[in-house]
Amino acid sequence: MNRILTGIQSTNVPHLGNILGAILPAIELSKNKNNESLFFIADLHTLTSVKDAAFIKQSTNAVAATWLAFNFDTEKNIFYRQSRVPQVTELTWYLNCFTPFPMLANAHSYKDKSSKLSDVNAGLFTYPVLMAADILLYDANHVPVGKDQVQHLEMAADIAKTFNYKMGKDVFVIPEAMVDNRVMNVPGIDGQKMSKSYNNFINIFLPEKELKKVVQSIVTDSTPLEDPKNPDTCNVFNIYKLLASTNETETMRANYLNGGFGFGHAKTALYELILQQYKEPRIKFDYLMNNTSILEKELAIGEAKASQLANQKLLEVREVIGYN
Ligand code: ADP
Ligand code: TRP
Repeated sequence: MNRILTGIQSTNVPHLGNILGAILPAIELSKNKNNESLFFIADLHTLTSVKDAAFIKQSTNAVAATWLAFNFDTEKNIFYRQSRVPQVTELTWYLNCFTPFPMLANAHSYKDKSSKLSDVNAGLFTYPVLMAADILLYDANHVPVGKDQVQHLEMAADIAKTFNYKMGKDVFVIPEAMVDNRVMNVPGIDGQKMSKSYNNFINIFLPEKELKKVVQSIVTDSTPLEDPKNPDTCNVFNIYKLLASTNETETMRANYLNGGFGFGHAKTALYELILQQYKEPRIKFDYLMNNTSILEKELAIGEAKASQLANQKLLEVREVIGYN
């Protein structure tokens, strides 16, 4: 049995990049009967960058509603808020004491963020240790993540090995990152990687009018309507092809190459494809966001299951440290 674990921060509504790059592949993995999945909302990590209770709450609901809108099976798997299984913060302390300071100082993500943010807090610095605790607390062996998180996974594995070695017992499973190289790098409306931090994302759950506006704002060049266009350098086409069938993609490619087909036409086609493809998740998402007690109930069930696993692991950890 593989134990798969991954978390998504509650820093906004998940966008098309998060959905295609992380949520849908994770849900696919969770369907395999040899896998048990723990998917959680990393709302403690969120606090490193957000200090707004209403925003954190709303984003937490939106992340939860997204998983459920795409039919994540919460009965077979474990679905929870990180902050509701606070045992993870106790483990974080223990792991802090097994984490070499220079390892954290060398983290790309810390160096990157600390050069850009005004709020460079200690939580941001020890972020990878909390992430290691997320993983080690539940004996997860496979952790699906994007490339940007691979270094954090290497740190989690290093911390686990150091702990096991120093305490003379294999308390922790050594986790491995699962990076699917086929996983798409979804471009944003400006052609850079789609990201909350670049504010270039498509929120597929927006009301129709607003969604249309976002799609229309995708940056294109100024090739006149009648001229042939290169689909491969066009942001609209590059997003379209991630959602469309092979046939639809080939037709769109031919339209670009033939000329007489404007970027406005391509944007309308993309907008309609989003509506068509995400018809059901959009309805489900709205329903859940208006009935958050359902989210609360689903999460509470997962939190009880996660808490049980966490307590077992902590007993073992306390024992080897000498706190029993
Ligand atoms: P953001 O850059 O918007 O803040 P996160 O860093 O919170 O996104 O990423 C959450 C998950 O979504 C990660 O697994 C990440 O690899 C994936 N992801 C984020 N943006 C994209 C994208 N543009 N294309 C593919 N996957 C993405
Ligand atoms: N740091 C991850 C991100 O921003 C989120 C995360 C927190 C995570 N804890 C985790 C991912 C544990 C995988 C496993 O994307």
